[in-house]
Amino acid sequence: MSIVKINVLTVPPEQREVLEERFGSRAGMVESSDGFEWFELLRPVDGTDRYLVYTRWRDEESFQAWMEGPAKAAHQGGGGKPAASGAEAWTFEVVQQAAPRNA
Ligand code: HEM
Repeated sequence: MSIVKINVLTVPPEQREVLEERFGSRAGMVESSDGFEWFELLRPVDGTDRYLVYTRWRDEESFQAWMEGPAKAAHQGGGGKPAASGAEAWTFEVVQQAAPRNA
């Protein structure tokens, strides 16, 4: 099954808007990458300062190909200071999944 890559971004409160705006005007190249399956930017609502960038891929190779190519351009940003003060990457294998019936 697929793999999930989550980038955990630590974002100070005053940088939240900046981060969300940057994602709002993101390069949009991930959508056309071979093996790309899903993206979500997850905003924390329970008091933590960590956003999750959730991505799901057909396999590790697809993710690596994106990282080595389109991701570089997508991460160049405006040349300004990064909105996140830290980043940490997590990898998971999807072992089970479900979707609603009739969906
Ligand atoms: C130092 C580590 C990273 C930081 C600080 C970071 C931050 C950001 C920011 C601010 C954007 C918005 C676009 C921009 O500002 O240019 C972006 C785009 C994106 N990031 Fe990261 N990122 C990092 C690494 C990663 C990793 C490892 C992944 C994989 C899960 C990832 C997934 C994405 C995706 C899917 C986009 C949208 C690209 C597109 O629209 O084509 N990022 N990232």
